[in-house]
Amino acid sequence: MPGINIRAMEPADIEDSFNLIPSVASDFLFPTYSEEGKREFKAKLGQIKSRLADKKYISFVAEDSGKIIGIVQGSIREGHASLGLLFVDRRYHRNGVGTGLMEMAENQFRKEADVVKLSSSIYALEFYQRIGYAKTTGLRSKKGIVYYPMKKNLR
Ligand SMILES: CC(C)(COP(=O)(O)OP(=O)(O)OC[C@H]1O[C@@H](n2cnc3c(N)ncnc32)[C@H](O)[C@@H]1OP(=O)(O)O)[C@@H](O)C(=O)NCCC(=O)NCCS
Repeated sequence: MPGINIRAMEPADIEDSFNLIPSVASDFLFPTYSEEGKREFKAKLGQIKSRLADKKYISFVAEDSGKIIGIVQGSIREGHASLGLLFVDRRYHRNGVGTGLMEMAENQFRKEADVVKLSSSIYALEFYQRIGYAKTTGLRSKKGIVYYPMKKNLR
């Protein structure tokens, strides 16, 4: 999409990146969560925010004219990459923003890891399948948060 720039997250982006998460979660994740799951997700927002500021994590943003419209975050530990967050502003869905963010994160992961794992929302399942991820088990649920464990070989 013209005008959209995907780049490493900077400290000045943290507030706007964080603000995207509750609204996108409430539109696309909460419809599949139980009440317990919604409470659990909300209780984790503080941890999510502090991770956005943590340089141990690999974080990229998508921006349109200075406005943050997407965020991806993952990490690598002992040669294993895992994806933690992927959120795109609903007004920009189906324009390649999620794919672009994932490409940036995967390029970074590939420097140190062979495989990336993630927990997909029910909503994002087709998206992840489209970009090469496969389910490793059926649907799982943890404290009311439902997800598909998925992985992709990076090489
Ligand atoms: C999942 C998400 C990040 C995808 O972002 P996006 O920018 O819309 O994705 P893209 O435009 O790069 O999509 C690439 C392809 O994936 C598939 N896809 C994306 N969204 C889809 C959907 N809702 N239903 C079916 N297929 C979908 C399509 O094949 C799409 O290509 P097309 O638009 O040419 O048909 C976005 O929908 C989102 O933020 N969802 C809510 C939060 C969420 O579920 N995050 C994942 C948590 S693990």
